[in-house]
Amino acid sequence: MKGSFPIEKFNTVRTPFYYYDTELLRKTLDTIKSETGKNDNYHVHYAVKANANRKLLRIICAAGFGADCVSGGEIKACLDAGFPADKIVFAGVGKSDWEINVGLDAGIAYFNVESLPELEVINQLAGEKDKIARVSFRINPDVGAHTHANITTGLAENKFGIAMADMEKVIEIAASLKHVEFVGLHFHIGSQILEMGDFVALCNRVNELQDRLERHHITVKNINVGGGLGIDYQHPNEVPVPHFADYFQTYRKHLHLRPDQQLHFELGRAVVGQCGSLITRVLYVKQATYKQFAIVDAGMTDLIRPALYQAFHSIENLSSDERKETYDVVGPICESSDVFVKAFDLNRCHRGDLLALRSAGAYGEIMASRYNCRELPAGYTTEDFV
Ligand code: LLP
Repeated sequence: MKGSFPIEKFNTVRTPFYYYDTELLRKTLDTIKSETGKNDNYHVHYAVKANANRKLLRIICAAGFGADCVSGGEIKACLDAGFPADKIVFAGVGKSDWEINVGLDAGIAYFNVESLPELEVINQLAGEKDKIARVSFRINPDVGAHTHANITTGLAENKFGIAMADMEKVIEIAASLKHVEFVGLHFHIGSQILEMGDFVALCNRVNELQDRLERHHITVKNINVGGGLGIDYQHPNEVPVPHFADYFQTYRKHLHLRPDQQLHFELGRAVVGQCGSLITRVLYVKQATYKQFAIVDAGMTDLIRPALYQAFHSIENLSSDERKETYDVVGPICESSDVFVKAFDLNRCHRGDLLALRSAGAYGEIMASRYNCRELPAGYTTEDFV
């Protein structure tokens, strides 16, 4: 056992694999619940896109969370894991007809609609089933977030949501359609956001839009502010649970909810990020002219975040306590971007050592690919190794 890793047990399975600390996940869920529990109209829908591992979904579902889905496949995975349909919401700019039908058949809480043509299709498909689909409009708030350009979503130039200028028009059109019921507004400004000021900016925008709607005597049942709370990738051991208190307090302080209004959150990364590690083995230590490489059996196919977003994942050598040396930790994929970290200090590495790439619970396993005909990594939890 090193830290909280049962490394002797790790020797019984093939690497690379994801390892989830379910105790930390439960602690994270409890912290969120105790924070949101201060307001009986605050509800969290876990953003399934961060990690759809069935074992995790079941724990999150058992803790009473709802689910935020972005595909028919995610809705099915959630129903299968036990989430009640009325706690499932469905977003996405390009929902296929079959996916909308999955949502309609299940009777999900609502669709987060991202365009007028989509609204018309939902109305038509609901009509064919003689149903009424609850819809919420995703409004693009044109609020920037201090995060990586690839994961900011709330700017007017992004493909997401309906322009603020069109908000009243789509609400009016929805009222004229027989098979949809308008139930809310949806926003999301981006991911891995650590500055509470970005969420304050969103609150201010939502307040402004609500005031505008009130002038038209329009009331909204649900406000959904999306997700985006970031985690501390630099210090996985020091800050294992994100600062949920600050996050929810920001909304309490800055968002003007109307009486009877429900506030929905869609947190993904902050729920599962820290509890997951990618466990990999050192294949070779290679001395090159200017540096040394630790070549490991996991690659960008297993964890693409460093290659795609230049994301940092802290690494620990679970097998060695020897003096630290500096390595570039790289995978076996035939791409020069298959690098996890450059010039990183690790306890001296040898062939066969187990390394843990930390804070890989979100957007890790779920973004794995089969490039180079590789096997997808397995996902184990603490309970699999008792
Ligand atoms: N709601 C909506 C509408 C979203 O688009 C997202 C994330 C979330 C909620 C959850 O955001 P979170 O709480 O996890 O930040 N693959 C990237 C992140 C992409 C996020 C996409 N949308 C990464 O690895 O950093």
